[in-house]
Amino acid sequence: MRPHTAAVTARAHANIALVKYWGKRDRELNLPAAGSLSLTLAALTTTTTVRFDPALDRDRLSLDGRPETGSALTRLSAWLDLVRARAGISARAEVVSANDFPTASGLASSASAYAALALAATRAAGLDLDPRALTVLARRGSGSAARSIHGGFVRMHAGDGRSSEQAFAAPLDAAADWPLRMVIAVVGGGRAKAHGSRDAMDHCAATSPLYPGWLACVPGDLARAEAAIAGRDLVELGQVAEASALAMHAAAMASRPAVLYWQPPTLACVAAVHELRDQGVRAFFTMDAGPHVKVLTSAAEAARVAARLGVVDGVTEVIESAPGGPAEVVP
Ligand code: PMV
Repeated sequence: MRPHTAAVTARAHANIALVKYWGKRDRELNLPAAGSLSLTLAALTTTTTVRFDPALDRDRLSLDGRPETGSALTRLSAWLDLVRARAGISARAEVVSANDFPTASGLASSASAYAALALAATRAAGLDLDPRALTVLARRGSGSAARSIHGGFVRMHAGDGRSSEQAFAAPLDAAADWPLRMVIAVVGGGRAKAHGSRDAMDHCAATSPLYPGWLACVPGDLARAEAAIAGRDLVELGQVAEASALAMHAAAMASRPAVLYWQPPTLACVAAVHELRDQGVRAFFTMDAGPHVKVLTSAAEAARVAARLGVVDGVTEVIESAPGGPAEVVP
């Protein structure tokens, strides 16, 4: 067996939900209230190295070259305890993680972070979990992270009751034969978001009169999205993705007090997408817990979408991504 002090590095890609996850049925086990469906993106990557070291007195975390001491470290330590319990070890860990995109800004950094971490930490602890078990473990860190264990289109299953094992992510379709792109308009330079998704979705579930309506949309949207993927129907998939994002944001905005992620450039990007569609371009937007706008389109139309979003006032960067592969250990 691998000595527990060996360092393991893993890489995972962010994913963007086309049918959103927004709300938990159990906070302690981080069980989602409903399923979700996403596309893993090649261009947004987290690379994480983990080493368990009996000589350390506490866990250490370096994020994008800076040592973290606050809530990110507390959350990481609690999650590492799950790995330690499973592996039967007590050593503290040194975790070094870097994103190649803005962190904690609604660009899904927790998804790729906890997916890369789940793979690196379990291997460094001497465990060899199958992909489904890895998704369950990654989900304990961040709900969307379960989906970043896999590449292509991924379906998160909510499961039921208090069973953690039933809430897992499974690959739907690698979409290798479907030339899709996600064009991301970064708004306002990727500043740290005002409402972390974790607290915001709990607050929404507790106070938004629209939360039950949002949850009621999910099963139908999942079925529509899965059928659209099976039929390679970009327009249908894009329409479901827009509807799901708008329903999620409507529920969030109706929270008391409101959770409002949109900035003026967010709406300007939405208008630009409408304008592109009027010109016959197949482009469909989605947004997460931040002001950025992610646009699903085809590879053939992506350059035109990127050029249009790039001239929207307040858009500071445009990232174009192909679908990405699963989390993997870096040799
Ligand atoms: O994984 P979390 O707890 O950061 O939640 C992600 C929530 C959204 O990004 C807004 C939606 C989603 O399904 O990814």
